[in-house]
Amino acid sequence: MSQEISSGLSESRVFPPSEAFLRGCGDRPHVASLDEYRALWTRSIQDPEGFWGEVARGFDWFTPFTSVLDWQCPDARWFDGGTLNACHNCVDRQVNAGHGDEVAIIWEGEPGWPSDASSAYAAAFSSSDRALSARHGHAVRHLTYRHLQEETARLANALRSLGVRKGDVVTLYMGMVPELAIAVLACARIGAAHSVIFGGFAAPAIIDRVADAQSRVIITCDGAWRRGAIVPLKANVDEACTGAPSVEHVIVLRRTGHDVPMRAGRDHWWHELVASQPSTCACEPMASEDLLFLLYTSGSTGKPKGIRHTTAGYSIFTAFTARMTFDLHPGTEQVYFCTADIGWITGHSYIVYGLLPNRVPTLMYEGAPNAPAEDRFWSIVERHRVTHFYTAPTAIRAFMKWGDAHPAKHDLSSLRLLGTVGEPINPEAWMWYHRTIGGERCPIVDTMWQTETGGHIITPLPGATPTVPGSCTLPMFGIDAAIVNERGEELPANAGGLLVIRKPWPAMLRGIHGDRQRFIDTYWSKVPGMYVAGDGARRDERGYFWIMGRIDDVINVSGHRLGTMEVESALVAHEAVVEAAVVGMPHEIKGTGIAAFVTLGPGHTGRAGDALRKELQEHVAHEIGAIAKPDMIRFTQALPKTRSGKIMRRLLRDIAAGNEVRQDTTTLEDFTVLAKLRETEE
Ligand code: PRX
Repeated sequence: MSQEISSGLSESRVFPPSEAFLRGCGDRPHVASLDEYRALWTRSIQDPEGFWGEVARGFDWFTPFTSVLDWQCPDARWFDGGTLNACHNCVDRQVNAGHGDEVAIIWEGEPGWPSDASSAYAAAFSSSDRALSARHGHAVRHLTYRHLQEETARLANALRSLGVRKGDVVTLYMGMVPELAIAVLACARIGAAHSVIFGGFAAPAIIDRVADAQSRVIITCDGAWRRGAIVPLKANVDEACTGAPSVEHVIVLRRTGHDVPMRAGRDHWWHELVASQPSTCACEPMASEDLLFLLYTSGSTGKPKGIRHTTAGYSIFTAFTARMTFDLHPGTEQVYFCTADIGWITGHSYIVYGLLPNRVPTLMYEGAPNAPAEDRFWSIVERHRVTHFYTAPTAIRAFMKWGDAHPAKHDLSSLRLLGTVGEPINPEAWMWYHRTIGGERCPIVDTMWQTETGGHIITPLPGATPTVPGSCTLPMFGIDAAIVNERGEELPANAGGLLVIRKPWPAMLRGIHGDRQRFIDTYWSKVPGMYVAGDGARRDERGYFWIMGRIDDVINVSGHRLGTMEVESALVAHEAVVEAAVVGMPHEIKGTGIAAFVTLGPGHTGRAGDALRKELQEHVAHEIGAIAKPDMIRFTQALPKTRSGKIMRRLLRDIAAGNEVRQDTTTLEDFTVLAKLRETEE
């Protein structure tokens, strides 16, 4: 469990920035010592307006901003008076500065070459990429800034032709193809907000998000490749459309080439729609606080929250933090590979928006880490001479399990920096990553942040911060992070408390779409005047942060965030289930697995057993997506409740973890329930 993973009180190994890293930095890293970090951090906190004003002036503005910050807790307005465009700063700016022919995005597809050579998608490959793909035996594409400019302009014009206007929300439900990045940027180009839904989510999850955002247009693919099979994205959209009446148009990218029904008037092939569009389209001037995107994430209730991020603050913070955390230098040999999907915030911030303004090629891949074989990532690193590799602890634990032979087959000497994100990393996985992948020469940046924070809030800086396995170390510039009690009082070293941020920062969420009260209740009410992240944490004597895990009903499964209530609602939607309680449990690979305690309705009790267990897992996958499948389902005659009727989740967590029930059970309504829970078969 995360608490155990990151308890780390006895962790004493300290790794200063390696000589090899410092030598490879060309001139010098952006931040070259802990003293330099401290001085800059102090300035960023004492004079946020001076600090962020300077950073923001490094961006291209159509109209300069007139004020840096207007803060009326919980509402922040950053860079008011200015207009800019996020796509311009990612793409056009590079073209205008004479870098149009440099590579912006490198892409590796599945299932590879030559199968792609004969597919419907082949037309997307340039002739040099065809030759390269044939040589590598993998489908490879290189997209330059100029290419991105033309393709985003074409799609932007196509969206306009369907009536999309500034302020509309366009839903994207696609696989990891470059066109997903193009679609994101095309929306930004015309000032439409995007709402990307992870391609692993099922139709009901699409319905909820489309309805909440009132999207009229969905962009999807005929399918996505994953482990040699096709994920039926278009079929899921068709199913979702029956429950989402707001949808008027569906744009379909032909990726796999398999047959999908197209509904006349509603469905349009991407290639047909863009073919007739001009390859120029001026970037729409957007006010700093105009909505850039919505991204739905799980919270404590069954309904996902549409997190709102705005144009200037988000773009500037992600570009700045990417530059600092990954020590990016344009025009060098750097190649950056983040293994996340653009459907999550990591992909938004650190594949697209944070990377492109830094003019370092960003590599995206389609498929799975273990297909065609468990060395997929190492093969990519070797062939593309990847210098920066950013992944989740759950993936690292899987690599460890698959064995050292896979990385050993490849030349990983190009790697200079490693990163992790999404959940606490256990020191054992950290050490394996450090030795086996990093060759003991690459700094590891354990980046702590959230969908809501937009970008990194606590992380080492590779040229400055000595790292300690399991700790995300020190706050990012401008982030006034602290550990406090519920009265907002800062706690002494090593005392566990609430992780809060006491001052506004540019990429902070601007709200939950359509739910002001939930925004206030979730983040701003527990400790007045402070942003409460929802994580428990402590700070050690050095001032380093150790994240202990979520303190709400959110669980972190393989670094993906799920609400226990979402899974519970999916379970009770099954005819056999009357009540369900879902909790996290320790899981060797996923960090946290999903444990479900289920009571069956009359007439179904006889069905308790493996067949129904499997049926319920499939049912949850169909309602939410495969990531939400419970790892363990226990059938029980009753759930333990307090006298006021609340399910005693902590008690269930203990049972799921196989621990002795330690907590006080005096409020338990019916003691026989506990005995029954223990008795029920696994
Ligand atoms: O619990 C923390 C955990 O992931 C949560 C945020 O999830 P999400 O919004 O999906 O964003 C994940 C990718 C940024 C946090 O509240 N978390 C994220 N990074 C770390 C982490 N826990 C410990 N260490 C991290 N580096």
